[in-house]
Amino acid sequence: MTHHPVPDRPVAGDWLALREPADAAAREHSAPLITRLVQHWEERAGTAGTPGEEPVVVVDLGAGTGANRAWLSRHLPGPQRWILLDHDRELLEQAVAAARADGADVEPVLAGVEDLGRVLAEHPAARRLVTCSALLDLLTGEQIRDLARELAEQDVPALLALTVDGEVLLDPPHHLDPSVLGAFEDHQHRGELAGTDAVRLAAEALRERGMVVDVTPTPWWVSDQAWARPLLERFLADRADAAVEHRPDLTAEAHAWLRTRLVDCARGRLRATVGHADVLGLPSVS
Ligand SMILES: C[S@@+](CC[C@H](N)C(=O)[O-])C[C@H]1O[C@@H](n2cnc3c(N)ncnc32)[C@H](O)[C@@H]1O
Repeated sequence: MTHHPVPDRPVAGDWLALREPADAAAREHSAPLITRLVQHWEERAGTAGTPGEEPVVVVDLGAGTGANRAWLSRHLPGPQRWILLDHDRELLEQAVAAARADGADVEPVLAGVEDLGRVLAEHPAARRLVTCSALLDLLTGEQIRDLARELAEQDVPALLALTVDGEVLLDPPHHLDPSVLGAFEDHQHRGELAGTDAVRLAAEALRERGMVVDVTPTPWWVSDQAWARPLLERFLADRADAAVEHRPDLTAEAHAWLRTRLVDCARGRLRATVGHADVLGLPSVS
C-alpha cells in the first residue's frame, strides 16, 4: 500500500474559490517573471537544440482545487502536461475534475512536498517547471530548503507564487487591528512553519543553491470589486478565529473587532491591502 501524508489542518475548498479573483488580479504583476521563465527555456533550447513542441512538464505543489493551473496554463506558451500534487485527496479530486473539464493534460499525485524528487525523477522532459501558489508559508524552513535543493539538483526552474509577506493594511484602521492581526501572524508561525518569513527563506535557499532569483510583489487590493465582500468577510472571520486559537486571552477583543469589521464591510467602507510575493528561481544557463 502506498503511504501518503494526511493533512493535519485541511484547507477549505470554498476559501480557495473565494480568493481566486483576488489572486488572478494580483498575479498580473508577475508577468515579467513569466517572460523571464520563457526566455530561460528558449536559451536552454538554443544550447540544447530542444524541439519546442514537446509539452512542458509543470509540477504544481499544493495544487488544492487547481487555481494555479487554471491561471498559469493560460499564461504559459505551448503544450503543457500538469502534475498536480497535494496531500489532500478531496481537494486533489476537485482539481483534476476541473482540469479535465478544461481539456488539460493532467496527472494527480497524492503526496507531500517531500516527494518532489521522486515526482521529478518520474517525469523527465526538456522543459520543466515546479510551481505553487499560496503554499510556501504553510511549509517549514527545512521543507523550503529541501525544495530549493531538489530544484537545483534536478536543474528545474520554479515559480513560487502568492506567498503572504505579512503586510495587512485595513482602511479605515481600527485600534484592535495590531493585536488581532499580530496574533494571526504568530499563529501562522506555529510549530516550525515559515509563515510570513517564507518568501525571504525561499529566495535565500534558492540563491544558496546557485539559482538566479527574482522576487515580485503581488499584493491583493480588495475594495469595491464585485467579488470583494465575501472574500473580505471570510478573510476577517478566519483571522479572528486563528487569533483566538493562538491567544485565547484575546477572545473578547477579537470578537468585538470582527463585529465592527463586518459592519464596515457591509457598508462597503472597508479596503484591504494584503501583501504577497512571487518568487522565480532559475538554474543558471552555462
Ligand atoms: C492555501 S492552499 C493553496 C491551493 C492552491 N495552490 C491555490 O492557490 O488555490 C495550500 C494547499 O497546499 C496543500 N499542502 C499544504 N502543505 C502541503 C504539503 N506539505 N504537501 C502537499 N500539499 C500540501 C494543501 O492541502 C492545500 O491544498
